Amino acid sequence: MGESTPSREEALTLLKKYNKSEGLIKHALAVEGVMRYCARKRGEDEEKWGIIGLIHDLDYEQFSEEHCQKSEELLRSQGWPEDYIRAVMSHGWGICTDVEPQNELEKVLYAVDELTGLVVATALVRPSKSVMDMTVKSVKKKWKDKAFAAGVNRAVIEKGAEMLGVELTELIDDTINGMREVADEIGLRGNI
Ligand SMILES: [Fe+2]
Ligand SMILES: [Fe+2]
Repeated sequence: MGESTPSREEALTLLKKYNKSEGLIKHALAVEGVMRYCARKRGEDEEKWGIIGLIHDLDYEQFSEEHCQKSEELLRSQGWPEDYIRAVMSHGWGICTDVEPQNELEKVLYAVDELTGLVVATALVRPSKSVMDMTVKSVKKKWKDKAFAAGVNRAVIEKGAEMLGVELTELIDDTINGMREVADEIGLRGNI
């Protein structure tokens, strides 16, 4: 690939080579959807943001003990650009890497990764099983219920919002909107 940027197709093929779990693929597609939405909103490079969102957990299924570190190795061996690799690494800041999110792309990825998980969990307990009719308020209610989707690290999301200088309400709204655009792919159109 050399210096050229990866296409979405290349990214998806690589993701599927290392991840067979439907849940992980859907998570990747959800994060991609939100990254695309957020890039568009900011007038940034949607394709780049989307591809980084799609590939961010590349190593998770096979190398969860070396999460992010193994992705760095795999992406580098594929000739991916350094700024893409850095962005992928930065989503694990303070958890599995010491790469601090610096630019907007990295900060958004850091902030929305966990938040997509909370939105999925919230959708699944709704009668509609959908993100299409979901409100920010319903997600905020689940946010406060610490026993609900307890695995979702609220502190990371808060830190991400703080880094971006946005209110949690706006971040949740962006995340819902981004996931709506990929509702069919992530199985969250529900019965609407
Ligand atoms: Fe991750
Ligand atoms: Fe993730």
